[in-house]
Amino acid sequence: MIENAASDRLTGRVALVTGAAGDIGGAIALRTARDGATVVLSDLAAATDRLAETADACRAAGAPAVHLCPLDVTDESAVTEAVNEVVARVGPPDAIVTSAGYQGTFTPLPGYPIGDLRTVLEVNVVGTFTVVQACAAALIAAERAGSVVVVASMAGVSGAPNMAAYSASKAAVLGFSRSAAKDLAGAGIRVNAVSPGFIGPGRMWDRQVELQASTPSAYYADTPEEVAAQMIGMIPLRRYGAVQEVASVVGFLLSDDASYVTGTNTEISGGSA
Ligand SMILES: NC(=O)c1ccc[n+]([C@@H]2O[C@H](COP(=O)([O-])OP(=O)(O)OC[C@H]3O[C@@H](n4cnc5c(N)ncnc54)[C@H](O)[C@@H]3O)[C@@H](O)[C@H]2O)c1
Repeated sequence: MIENAASDRLTGRVALVTGAAGDIGGAIALRTARDGATVVLSDLAAATDRLAETADACRAAGAPAVHLCPLDVTDESAVTEAVNEVVARVGPPDAIVTSAGYQGTFTPLPGYPIGDLRTVLEVNVVGTFTVVQACAAALIAAERAGSVVVVASMAGVSGAPNMAAYSASKAAVLGFSRSAAKDLAGAGIRVNAVSPGFIGPGRMWDRQVELQASTPSAYYADTPEEVAAQMIGMIPLRRYGAVQEVASVVGFLLSDDASYVTGTNTEISGGSA
């Protein structure tokens, strides 16, 4: 397993990670714990068991404190309430990562269900917007600087077949992060995005390989094994990325090592465009 050394670069900071029960969100949360942050782990209430596993890993990694924050990011008032509660308990989150996400169905555009498009946009776009908005307001009220990392996707950069809603949502959060970087720069809050490409193993990798295989497309074969080989064949580094390789870039962007970096998108894709 790829795992970078522990550091103290987030000591004294409060990291809030949404989607922290997920493969990438969990790895990012662990990275912030290994970098010395107090960690606030957020995900759907339905994901409590996996969130507890992330919490155990963060404690074992030496996080000074770990707090759980069950939350649906599409519920705007719940987001505000949760951030206010975090502020009261440990202070405003100043290392914020939005990793909660939903891939949507895999369907060619002509038949893509509009109800699912709305769900994808709600989770990926509205959910990102409200979390960053609430955290930024808390930081500004406390006159504190901070760093935000929005987890986008290469699908938002280049467009993925059968994933028009997801690709649109991730392009939207890229635009959002660049705009937020400008709005929040004066308050000392940096905002950057990362765009993972094919990352695995994990739920999203398995799901996309299976669903691309079972969905008609001019781009992919019809067995998961062949689709996996096709995807890896598209990557110049010839392998999928590990969740830790996403987390290490996010850890850098959250830290003062990236103190002059804002409004950027880092592609974590093994060279695939
Ligand atoms: N895994 C990949 O290959 C890949 C590639 C590019 C981008 N991404 C992005 O990375 C992020 C994390 O992906 P992952 O691989 O960890 O996926 P995952 O499915 O393992 O985790 C996503 C998490 O988001 C949570 N979530 C979903 N809807 C939510 C809601 N309404 N409120 C709160 N939490 C909610 C889920 O419960 C889950 O724990 C996502 O934004 C995803 O789009 C993933």
